[in-house]
Amino acid sequence: MKLCIIGTGYVGLVSGVCFSDLGNDVICVDKDLSKIENLKNGIIPIYEPGLDELVIKNYKNKRLKFSTNLKDSILKSDIIFICVGTPTKKNGNDADLSQVYNVAKEISKLVKKFKIIVTKSTVPVTGGDEIEKIISKKVSKKLFSVVSNPEFLREGEAIRDFYKPDRIIIGTSHKKTNNVLKNLYAPLTSRGAKYINTSRKAAELIKYSSNAFLATKITFINEIANLCEKINVNIEDISIGIGLDKRIGSRFLRAGPAYGGSCFPKDTKALVTTGDKFKTNLTVIKSVIKSNKNRSSLMLKRVFDILKNKINNKNICFLGVTFKANTDDMRDSSCLSMIPALIKKGAKINYFDPTGEKSDFKKFKNVIFSNNIKDAIKKSDLIIIHTEWNDFKTINFKKDVKNKKFSIFDMRNIYSVNKMKDQKIKYFSIGN
Ligand code: UGA
Repeated sequence: MKLCIIGTGYVGLVSGVCFSDLGNDVICVDKDLSKIENLKNGIIPIYEPGLDELVIKNYKNKRLKFSTNLKDSILKSDIIFICVGTPTKKNGNDADLSQVYNVAKEISKLVKKFKIIVTKSTVPVTGGDEIEKIISKKVSKKLFSVVSNPEFLREGEAIRDFYKPDRIIIGTSHKKTNNVLKNLYAPLTSRGAKYINTSRKAAELIKYSSNAFLATKITFINEIANLCEKINVNIEDISIGIGLDKRIGSRFLRAGPAYGGSCFPKDTKALVTTGDKFKTNLTVIKSVIKSNKNRSSLMLKRVFDILKNKINNKNICFLGVTFKANTDDMRDSSCLSMIPALIKKGAKINYFDPTGEKSDFKKFKNVIFSNNIKDAIKKSDLIIIHTEWNDFKTINFKKDVKNKKFSIFDMRNIYSVNKMKDQKIKYFSIGN
């Protein structure tokens, strides 16, 4: 099939590359010329394991093309995927759909024969109706159909999630369109992926509800971890004990710092706004947002407690500063509030992240990037393990930290409490 993917961000690039790898002819379009030139040269704008090899392979075999020419790309394609960003509005909580609507306007100028327009961007309920309205101002409704096909790709696992999705959601009531998309996804459904056809609005709400539910699950276990810390119970026992109940499920029950990233914070806020718009008070999700906001302050308080409120001149090392492991994404990482708060109190921060130095911290004199773990931790009074990269799982702290009175605050519970006790290391973790 001939596909055009508009927007080479996370969702667009991964989907485009994987669809081409499944045998389709794919043109990935972006208005950012340097990004497109880089992609043609195999330079990938994001860190995503395995993506570069797939880009290079499919670009070489010519199934995958990169272009800045929207018009030409749309005219050559049967299915157009809208994959542009829907960030939170600058002054508000709802999603800013201006990029999606601009693309819809552009598409409306170019449709001459039947096109399927698929929204993969995360668009609030009724977003698809609006896209349809914009296009139908210039094009007969017989010549296009607008579908919602939300994406459930996790950063760092995106390629695996694309090839082995738990489900494929197709929101359309247009039979012919549904059949075409069933065919497009046949290589995945034949390997066991479930294909669910719903109304467009249901598909839009499935996306938001999934992310809000997962955010709720994490927030729930984080709050139970707070209780565990007071009553000397290990949160890992609770996660295992409740997760084995199939109705609950064991995934997304790892207590840690505040959840972050480009999706959960943005989508929970947008869902509450949709609720308000339709006069429905989504109290659970509102509490989740509030609890997660408090979590970074709670983590900071624990750091202050560990250092007995003597922060001035303390050497604090962060291992991992992105919002989670296996990504270079800093969006809504809890480090963005914790690190400035600590330097304000006089701390000296060293950090190491496997994805390199972060521009967010360059403006701070007392925040230094070390390009290896040993250098980062050697002078530390406190080491904060902020993300669970494999690189952080086998560190010989006793040997590599020169300051003998160091402590560790393991926000991802990577290490065993008992083993740390045996080594006489002052070790603090979550929910313990
Ligand atoms: C999330 C969803 O998992 C994807 O299904 C969805 O497609 C994507 O958002 C999106 O809407 O595009 P992602 O933001 O990449 O994916 O990251 P997750 O792996 O879901 O992690 C989100 C946050 O929750 C991170 O801060 C992570 O550290 C935290 N988390 C996750 C926990 O604290 N505990 C857990 O058990 C799991």
